[in-house]
Amino acid sequence: MKIVQNIQQAVDAANELKKNGATLALVPTMGNLHDGHLALVREAARHADHVAVSIFVNPLQFNNQNDLKTYPRTLDADLDKLEQAGVDLVFTPLPEIMYPDGMNEHTFVFVPGLSDMLEGALRPGHFKGVTTVVTKLFNIFRPDCAMFGQKDFQQVAVLKKMVKDMAMQIKLVEVPIVRNEKGLALSSRNGLLSAEEKEKAPLIYKQMMRIRDSIVSGRRDFDALIKESRAEIDSNEGFRTDSIDIVDAESLRPVTGLTARAAVLMAVYLGTTRLIDSVSFDL
Ligand code: PAF
Repeated sequence: MKIVQNIQQAVDAANELKKNGATLALVPTMGNLHDGHLALVREAARHADHVAVSIFVNPLQFNNQNDLKTYPRTLDADLDKLEQAGVDLVFTPLPEIMYPDGMNEHTFVFVPGLSDMLEGALRPGHFKGVTTVVTKLFNIFRPDCAMFGQKDFQQVAVLKKMVKDMAMQIKLVEVPIVRNEKGLALSSRNGLLSAEEKEKAPLIYKQMMRIRDSIVSGRRDFDALIKESRAEIDSNEGFRTDSIDIVDAESLRPVTGLTARAAVLMAVYLGTTRLIDSVSFDL
């Protein structure tokens, strides 16, 4: 497994892997790798001859400096996992490599509309940071395909629109959420939870499923469904619901009579950790 830190080294190593027409899959990550990321790596290996992974805690997508500071960083353990998973190339740049003139001077890529709603309204600038860094990674690796987890539901929608709008010749592959046996979606942020909080966290999944099942069995009083879940979650010590939305899975706008697939999106604080989760389903 080759590990590189600089952009030119990553370009050269990716070109080397793509010699003689071999295909390359990219898995962009912010590190602190868990089984969810390893599912992305396995899916990548199914789609291409070679797999490259980037590990970069992208400061441009954090609108909260404390969140950036406390984001778990576990590079050595991450590299061990990637080596065992058979990854060919890992790119671990520092912020000054990705943003040599500083973040304010860097060209950005922005998807209007989808980036400003829901999670984007709560975290201004977040999706602009994601689309900018992902475009840069795409330009460095020029992969045939790239893997993204469905856990970050809105991120996938924003990136799909970016790829389509900008005619990027990259297949974006969505990989289903990996959950623990109790239903908690695997996430790097879970590492910030205490043992007791980890036990309680699957309540979010339970409430998401309750809303899904209610809708599938015919309920359409979405505001009431949201209110009930909010009350149920917030009545438990340590929980504070940030947002619950029921949306059209494609446009992320309110469900209409034409919606074929819907999604429930949740963001909930457990202690000081903000957890997000989602489920989508046919109507
Ligand atoms: O999903 C993530 O971990 C990040 O948003 C991504 C796609 C690696 C961009 O920094």
